[in-house]
Amino acid sequence: MSTLEIKDLHVSVAATDAAEEIPILKGVDLTVKSGETHAVMGPNGSGKSTLSYAIAGHPKYVVTSGSITLDGQDVLEMSIDERARAGLFLAMQYPVEVPGVSMSNFLRTAATAVRGEAPKLRHWVKEVKAAMSDLEIDPAFGERSVNEGFSGGEKKRHEILQLSLLKPKIAILDETDSGLDVDALRVVSEGVNRYSEETHGGILLITHYTRILRYIQPQFVHVFVGGRIVESGGPELADELEENGYVRFTQAVGA
Ligand SMILES: Nc1ncnc2c1ncn2[C@@H]1O[C@H](COP(=O)(O)OP(=O)(O)O)[C@@H](O)[C@H]1O
Ligand SMILES: [Mg+2]
Repeated sequence: MSTLEIKDLHVSVAATDAAEEIPILKGVDLTVKSGETHAVMGPNGSGKSTLSYAIAGHPKYVVTSGSITLDGQDVLEMSIDERARAGLFLAMQYPVEVPGVSMSNFLRTAATAVRGEAPKLRHWVKEVKAAMSDLEIDPAFGERSVNEGFSGGEKKRHEILQLSLLKPKIAILDETDSGLDVDALRVVSEGVNRYSEETHGGILLITHYTRILRYIQPQFVHVFVGGRIVESGGPELADELEENGYVRFTQAVGA
């Protein structure tokens, strides 16, 4: 049983061309426990990715106040790799390309770091094969450089491949649905649901579309506008967003 607890989180971004830091997150409160799926939904530019980067420890995003803990441990005190070893995982909205590092090398290195020991080779090869086949990924991808020349959908599948191999305690999925065609959306969603069933991890599903919620059912839905959660509820809140969009919320905060 794990708990990710975010309290009154304020985050600024250190913009390269500006002398001052720009405040983006303005008091986020959110608790995600094992076995729970939370959807965080908000319009473009509301700060959703900033929230995911702050949890993962991206150096450009400066926490100015508030706290993030995982099972009572101070996440903000941890380096990025310590956060990963502690059981946090981020599937990025824009996965980065790493030329020269093969996918299979990358996956094994990541699994070794997170598990604390190198997985036994024979067992590992089987494990990767099965996970790739579940996600309908061609085995030839193992020899390609990480994300290099991958289509948007292929990148997202590989993020979920990492999720299924690394089995984190809490998974943050930042717009894993964007840019996917219907078939890829189904395959990726099934991968997320498998993770949820097999690992009982907690999921923070960030999105601005409701369509992924036809495949992944959250128990909790949070509306994210202007750098904070402005309303929380159950799946019925997503239905309302599907119907009416974010206008009611953006007008209320003047965003
Ligand atoms: N590295 C950055 N430099 C400058 N501005 C940024 C940076 N990252 C985010 N922002 C700004 O912060 C706001 C929120 O961005 P983001 O968290 O990506 O929103 P979302 O993921 O909800 O679309 C936007 O106005 C964006 O331009
Ligand atoms: Mg984003």
